[in-house]
Amino acid sequence: MRRYRVSRDLNMRARRTIAGGVNSNVRLAAIPWPLGFDRAAGSRIWDVDGNEYIDFAMGMGTHILGHQPAAVVDAVRRSLDSGQLFAGQHSLECRLAESIVAIAPWIEQVRFGLSGTEMNLLALRIARAATGRQRFVRFVGHYHGWLDPVLSSGSSPLMPGQSAAAMVDEVVVKWNDLASLDAALSQGDVAAVVMEPVMCNTGCIPPVSGYLAGVKEICARHGTVWVVDEVITGFRLSLSGAQGVFGICGDITIFAKAMGAGFPIAALGASVELLAGVANGTVNHSGTYNSGLSSVAAAVASLDELTGSRPHDRIARAGNRLIGALSGMATRSGHVLRVEGPGPMVQMRFGADVVPTSPEEFRAASDPDVLRSFIAAWQDHGVRTTSRGMCFLSAAHSDHDIDRAVDAAVAALDMI
Ligand SMILES: Cc1ncc(COP(=O)(O)O)c(C=O)c1O
Repeated sequence: MRRYRVSRDLNMRARRTIAGGVNSNVRLAAIPWPLGFDRAAGSRIWDVDGNEYIDFAMGMGTHILGHQPAAVVDAVRRSLDSGQLFAGQHSLECRLAESIVAIAPWIEQVRFGLSGTEMNLLALRIARAATGRQRFVRFVGHYHGWLDPVLSSGSSPLMPGQSAAAMVDEVVVKWNDLASLDAALSQGDVAAVVMEPVMCNTGCIPPVSGYLAGVKEICARHGTVWVVDEVITGFRLSLSGAQGVFGICGDITIFAKAMGAGFPIAALGASVELLAGVANGTVNHSGTYNSGLSSVAAAVASLDELTGSRPHDRIARAGNRLIGALSGMATRSGHVLRVEGPGPMVQMRFGADVVPTSPEEFRAASDPDVLRSFIAAWQDHGVRTTSRGMCFLSAAHSDHDIDRAVDAAVAALDMI
């Protein structure tokens, strides 16, 4: 614990004036306590005790280009010479919209906001306005943000303070199961189906073959708007996200995280027809900070860099190298570590040697206590990942980083 002494002091200080000492509840789960960080560059991050880590938390998936990518940092610095927020239009936001439409040509128009959560809420509003219906379908194990209308996942009780009304419009359905979806939509009054195209919030599980095409057909048949939440997969799974990879597009697309390379910006994309109400002002979408200069500059630079340098194959290769080296590694402590996912993001799991296709199977095949011990031990050996064992790869991770992370994992496994 001496290794994290300065972090502990910082955490004690923070807890006096910041509730819980953190500004996102996800960070409460950090082990042994929320660490403080001084700086980060490329694939590395340094804590306030001076410990260096290979970082797989990567801003919770935002840093597709690594920490401090030169192109993005330079663009943001330049943007500050022009101002910070005009509360009006500027040419850079047109440039960003044009880039997105070029990369994801199934999108005709966009609106920008600050977070994935609010763009998902806007999607529900647009779908309700377009269909005149009220309810929406979501899936067990998927996550679409922290605010009331999208926080619950049906199977779990409401959290203290959460509006009971939040559950009223929500229909929770089993994912990767077309019959359940069809049955839910057959009951009527469903405005939208909201889904992660690859389930990244409980394990990292791809859709079964034909599932996304089936979802598209079912939504079209019932006149329901299909919202594809690409907050994690967008610009990460490939340049054109999961929809590009699977060759299937939804009616509304949500982008956030990798789009801004760490700066607060998100986008909702759809057809001109679906966005007509937003365009003529009858469907409200507002926000003081929307399309602030530094965030837009970061996103333009991020998408230019991703388009120009095409790092996605390299990122996937690094992830697959991690999967290959660690997956199924029989540990000296008798546990089996599984690493699952498409490469740009991977999920670590201790438990049964099976391939889960649903959150239920994932949970049944997982030992969260062993995972937690492993994450702590990996951190002690200089590798940082998210508190639920999801690793985000980036263009900054080298083969050497992966080899070091694997060596550290071997040492960590010896400790648990
Ligand atoms: C799939 C998905 N949708 C939405 C969100 C919420 O995005 P934000 O944290 O930017 O509000 C997240 C956050 O991790 C997410 O993973």
